[in-house]
Formats: sequence, C-alpha cells, structure tokens
Amino acid sequence: MKKKIVLLTMAAVLALSATACSSGGDTSGGGSSSGGSSSSDVANKDKPLVWFNRQPSNSSTGELDMAALTFNEDTYYVGFDANQGAELQGTMVMDYIEANIDSIDRNGDGVIGYVLAIGDIGHNDSIARTRGVRAALGTGVEADGGVNSEPIGTNTDGSATAVKDGTIEAGGKSYTVRELASQEMKNSAGATWDAATAGNAIGTWASSFGDQIDIVVSNNDGMGMSMFNAWSKDEGVPTFGYDANADAVAAIADGYGGTISQHADVQAYLTLRVLRNALDGVDVDTGIGTADEAGNVLSDDVYVYNEEQRSYYALNVAVTADNYQDFTDSTKVYEPVSKQLDESDHPTKSVWLDIYNASDNFLSSTYQPLLQNYDDLLNLDVEYIGGDGQTESNITNRLGNPSQYDAFAINMVKTDNAASYTSILNQ
Ligand code: BGC
Repeated sequence: MKKKIVLLTMAAVLALSATACSSGGDTSGGGSSSGGSSSSDVANKDKPLVWFNRQPSNSSTGELDMAALTFNEDTYYVGFDANQGAELQGTMVMDYIEANIDSIDRNGDGVIGYVLAIGDIGHNDSIARTRGVRAALGTGVEADGGVNSEPIGTNTDGSATAVKDGTIEAGGKSYTVRELASQEMKNSAGATWDAATAGNAIGTWASSFGDQIDIVVSNNDGMGMSMFNAWSKDEGVPTFGYDANADAVAAIADGYGGTISQHADVQAYLTLRVLRNALDGVDVDTGIGTADEAGNVLSDDVYVYNEEQRSYYALNVAVTADNYQDFTDSTKVYEPVSKQLDESDHPTKSVWLDIYNASDNFLSSTYQPLLQNYDDLLNLDVEYIGGDGQTESNITNRLGNPSQYDAFAINMVKTDNAASYTSILNQ
C-alpha cells in the first residue's frame, strides 16, 4: 500500500515538473515535494554518492581513482576485500586437490590440468581472483610486482609465458599442475563476465583437452555454472566459482566444487546505509560499527573500513560441501542489520541506483534482491536502473534529472568511467 502511494505521488511530481519545464519554470534543486522525490535544495554535486561493486580505478594499473572516491564529503565505495577473497578461492581449490588426490588426475598422466574463466581483464576483482588461483596452485609468474593475470589462450604443453607449471606433492607422489587454458569471457558486443561465452568456451576446451581437464575454475559463479551445466557436471569434473549465488550453492550437492561468499548481504546493506547516514546527517559509522537506535550493527569480522580509500570492504567466506547448507538463501538480509528504521526519525528519501548489466548473474540474482530488501528497512525509495553491460551512456542517459533524487548509488560499466557520472552531478 505504502509503495503505491509513493508511486502515485512520484507520478504527480513528475507530471508537475514536466509542466513546469514546458512553461519555462526552473525545477533545478528539486523544489519541495513529498513521498520519494527529492525534497532538498542541496546541489547535486553535494548529494551523498556511493560507488559499489566496481571501484573507481584505472583498469590497466588498478590505481584507485581518488578524485571519484572523494567527489564530495559524503562519497564512499562499497565492495569486498578482493585479495582476501582471492586467496581463499585459490586455497579452496588447492585443498580440494589435496583431499581428492587419489581420483583427481582423470587420465593418470601425472598432470593436474585446469582451465580458467576470466571475468574482465580490467576489473580489479577479476584480476585478484586470477592471481589468487595462480598463486595457490603454483602456476603464477611475477609481473609488475604481482602475479601476472593475463589470459593465456591455450597452453597444451606448458610453454606459455604468462603462467608456469606448478608442482604438488600429495599422496606420496609429485604432480605437475598446469593451466591448460584461460580466456576473458567477453561477448562480441563487449559484455564482460559473460556466462554464455564461458559455456561455449568449455565446449571448445573440452574438445581439445578432453580428460586432461581435471578442474574448472571461474572468476565467478555465473560463468562457473554455465560451464558446469554445459560440461563438467556430466563429466564429474569439480568446478569452482565465486559469489555464492543460490544456484551455485545448490549445485554443490551435485558436484560443483565450491564458491566464495563475498558477503553480498553485508555489502548491499552498506551500500544503502552510508547514503542513509549522510541523508540523516549522522556519523557514517551509525548502524555499521556503532549500533543505531534500532540495534543494527556489524561486527568487525564481516567488514573493514579503509578511511584513506573511503572504502568499505566486506570479508569473504569459502562455501564448500562442508558448510553450503548455511548459504542456500543468498538473498536473505543479514540478521544483525535487519531491523526497520523508524519512519518519523528517518523519513523516506529517494535514491537513484544503477546495475551496470541487468543480466549479470551475481548483481541481478543476489545483490539487487538484497538491496530491495534493505531499501524498505532503511526507508529509501530506490529507483533501479539496469544497464546493458557495454556502454556507460546506456545508463547515464537515464540520469537525465538528478535533481529529482536525494542520493546516488553507482555501479559503473568500466572502472575508469567515474567522470561520466560525476560530470552530470557537477552540471
Ligand atoms: C562479481 C561478479 C560480477 C562482477 C560485476 C564481481 O564482484 O563477483 O560475479 O560479474 O562483480 O562487476
């Protein structure tokens, strides 16, 4: 019922502002209105802004874009600890190999072969995961002070230069570990982390490598599940992903090797909570490290805040056959921050929020449903915009009237492109 009224009021406000526009009236600054649309006269450049999931940064060097991260005093980033998660992912795969050493080498050639689906070569999460897997399996080589994260194409004989053969001693024997193939899963239109591309790639890899492939690893579950369903489930080849999407967690019962929860339930909360706090004019730690009046609070084992980077990072947890039953509902709000805020102290505010790609498995099946659960609890009226995953303008075109909103939550197509958004807010 409440939602309906808000929608109707929004429609009325839009109709009014359209009339004002056509009669040459000035609607900038939002004017006064109720129920969802902006009721403040704050300039757009001073409104709370949160970047999430794709951290403003240089896609070649990974260097943080501090201008974007400090756009105004109420600007933050919310993501997760990419390095801690990547290390966990690598360790999870390695632990699996060691525990299953008697059966893992399918063709008995002494080489444990794996293939790797890379999400986006310019995305710091994807880079970290590729590095984490190679570091744990001993296949990484140094480049620019870190593990090389380039895709190798195919590497049948171990001669690729961006990786090397690793060695594992297990079950009283020595095995070679080889990255047989890896590739960025980008479709012809330019969408990255593309599950369908991964599903096709595993077909090609399986026909060239067959039973040399002992393990399938993916930078995320969207691509991982696509490969699992297309090939590895029937072949009984363990497949590892990242995100703990509900379908991937359920597939652990059918042989999916494991995944990593990036604590999306904590991230979705933080994404909206930092905006709520700025809109309320309270300390940013309210309901985060410090309990709010409703009792919402996070403990420091689920997130870290890096003040210099203006960034909140959720911590990751490995999800395997041992504990997956605890992770089956990926869209459930995190209990310690699940209490409704009082509407009289925290009046409804309107937020513009975009998802860079409406078909990204993680963002659409896990993150957005969580945001939608928290927006009610935090009295935020959020307008969700879904992009095409390829062009920033597909999204920025739909931020035509920022004055209509009290705050912004942005998920960029490309981590270099923060200025495409801030330039609109600066106008
Ligand atoms: C997720 C991926 C997702 C990407 C989108 C990552 O953190 O793990 O599944 O495709 O974000 O930016």
